[in-house]
Amino acid sequence: MSADPQLAATLDQHGQGHLLRWWNDLDAAGRERLLREIRSIDFERLDDLLKRLVFADETSAPEPSHVRPVAVARLPRTDAERVARRHAAELGAEALAAGQVAVVVVAGGQGTRLGFEGPKGTFPIGPVSAGSLFQIHCEKILALSRRHGKTIPLYVMTSPENHEDTARFFAEHNNFGLEHVRLFVQGQMPAVDRQTGEILLAGKDHLAISPDGHGGTLAALAARTEDGGPSCLDEMRERGIRTIFYFQVDNPLVQIADPAFLGIHRQARAEVSFKVVEKIQPTEKVGVVVEVDGRPQVIEYSDLPSELAERREPEGNLELWAGSIAIHIFERSFIERIVAEAKLPFHRAIKKVSYLDASGTLVGPKEPNAVKFETFIFDALPLAERYAVVECDRAVEFEPLKNATGPDSPATVRQRMSDLFAGWLESAGAKVPRRSDGSVPFGIEISPLFALDAAELKGKIPAGMVVEGPLYLCPNGGRT
Ligand code: UTP
Repeated sequence: MSADPQLAATLDQHGQGHLLRWWNDLDAAGRERLLREIRSIDFERLDDLLKRLVFADETSAPEPSHVRPVAVARLPRTDAERVARRHAAELGAEALAAGQVAVVVVAGGQGTRLGFEGPKGTFPIGPVSAGSLFQIHCEKILALSRRHGKTIPLYVMTSPENHEDTARFFAEHNNFGLEHVRLFVQGQMPAVDRQTGEILLAGKDHLAISPDGHGGTLAALAARTEDGGPSCLDEMRERGIRTIFYFQVDNPLVQIADPAFLGIHRQARAEVSFKVVEKIQPTEKVGVVVEVDGRPQVIEYSDLPSELAERREPEGNLELWAGSIAIHIFERSFIERIVAEAKLPFHRAIKKVSYLDASGTLVGPKEPNAVKFETFIFDALPLAERYAVVECDRAVEFEPLKNATGPDSPATVRQRMSDLFAGWLESAGAKVPRRSDGSVPFGIEISPLFALDAAELKGKIPAGMVVEGPLYLCPNGGRT
């Protein structure tokens, strides 16, 4: 049986006729799979992307003279500022106690740099417990729900590639005790040959496709289920959720639904809010939040001209210092508005992607051969009418797991976690040994279910406690 002539004609018209090259070799299941993947592609949109991002380089760096620093709620430095932060935290706590806050974690990425078998959220990161990233996040949400007396629903974004493994992991762990967990799947985009624009085949019955970037979160939250059931946003509306706390699965230090952040967001009547850290080096690999012609936006580090990255205030500090750490708050109504009105722009990434050549041989390229298309969540920022940018302390809130070794690797993340927990113990009166560089010489970990923050730890440990070796504090007296 030959392929549907209408489909073949459509593919030819878009220069993608080669996708059916192996049709006659495929069995029914293979044909079904190939058709499903081909049908998921919006070819008109792909043609537009090819024109702008593959055959031309339509990446528009802003004109440096139009770029200004953005207004940021800085870390409190005076007593008055500390009182104001506490007041904001009370407002945030009210939102949590009213059950108006949901949490979204994005976990659909491929984790290529980490190179771990399985979804990144299942990585055993706990420095002593070897608990997974998902476990740590879920325990924080559970502790927060208990503290504020209301369920905080969790929405986990997966990709078609890692959805089943992620769902199995949550089921095996009984959702880590959380009352409401819903997984939702993001969209995908095909990878194309960077010279010809042809979609790459990963097999005779399978396109080279990958997740469409964390910007895909917004559309995926708004999408109905496969069987026509309510979208995540519909469900949130039904539950009385107004505000969504968003973070990425790879940062175990994230202060989930941080009440002060929520409070500042609400005080500003913001539609979206960003947490930022102070960039110290111009070359640091974080996007910066800036204003371009009076509108807020994020410039990715790879798109930031060095002239801008290195611009300094008269006092010597960087002018564009507000590094985005991918922790956001969104109003549900804002997401509903923007998914109806606009689409986030695609960016291109030039990567090495294995492909089937014309002879049917799978080729692992040595040089980047392909263009992938991704949307970024921070492109929602310019669409907001009101926004807030809030500074936080990176040592306390940001240490992402990206690489197998070197910076942002399991070793650095575990060390940072141990150092942070050691600080909590010391402020509660314990003695903890430190190396000359200030780091602790062994693993220390505190389950969020034992204490969610340093203040909660006070009074939970014995007076004069001395820590002499690896320590894991968890409920039910668990101490190692
Ligand atoms: P990264 O861009 O760091 O990608 O994603 P990654 O998949 O974790 O790792 P590499 O680049 O392949 O090595 C930052 C966060 O955004 C999520 C990831 O799961 C991670 O939490 N993400 C990224 C998605 O959910 N979907 C995507 O399409 C891309």
